[in-house]
Amino acid sequence: MTHLVAINGSPRKNGNTATLLEHACKGARSRGASVTQVHLYDLMYHGCRSCFACKTKGGRSYGRCAVRDDLTPVLSDISEADALILGSPLYFGTVTGAMRSCTERLLFPYLEYTSPPHSLAPRRIRAAYILTMNVTEEELKTHGYSQHPVLNERVLGMLLGSAETLYSYDTCQFEDYTRVVNELFDPVRKAERRERVFPEDCKRAFDLGVRLVGSE
Ligand SMILES: Cc1cc2nc3c(=O)[nH]c(=O)nc-3n(C[C@H](O)[C@H](O)[C@H](O)COP(=O)(O)O)c2cc1C
Repeated sequence: MTHLVAINGSPRKNGNTATLLEHACKGARSRGASVTQVHLYDLMYHGCRSCFACKTKGGRSYGRCAVRDDLTPVLSDISEADALILGSPLYFGTVTGAMRSCTERLLFPYLEYTSPPHSLAPRRIRAAYILTMNVTEEELKTHGYSQHPVLNERVLGMLLGSAETLYSYDTCQFEDYTRVVNELFDPVRKAERRERVFPEDCKRAFDLGVRLVGSE
């Protein structure tokens, strides 16, 4: 059975990212895939400790992360998966710290320092980012925010075999915009987007789940 691991890198379990991930998981399940969902903010772990056990010649952990914590079983599950979705809001132009720490631990052991660099991933994993953000598609480019997502996707694709990114722009950040100091965002327009555009993003997420677990 095809297996998908879906990781929520947002602290919000019912936020934009989690909702899109849920639709992607539904898409994967609709094709008979098994799915594991992980909420990173439920776990205690750190990013890469630069111990280099994963790079030591003849070492027991060559190509694998030697650190043992809550992320260890998640990394093990991913290493046996067919597909992976990493969901995160943009925080200051890139993924959340929790997602960043997770990808350091997942990807650095697979990066073999050969020339050219080579991947030690045990299998090809079809991977994708789902990114949600306040900015519009236009602002993502003009604010210089597109650099991190593009680089993240490239690294993921190089080390796991393939990668794509689903962008959900101009999301609703607050249930009630009247309760927060806000001169930046138009609550009426945000509500309208939530009503009209976000359901389309959910549909695209469902299709992503279908595609990632489908036959090539
Ligand atoms: C600490 C923090 C930093 C943020 N930084 C950005 C940013 O740089 N660019 C942006 O477009 N949105 C930014 N946002 C907004 C979130 O990316 C956006 O609301 C997202 O959809 C939230 O996802 P969630 O509902 O899954 O938590 C930030 C939000 C927080 C809490």
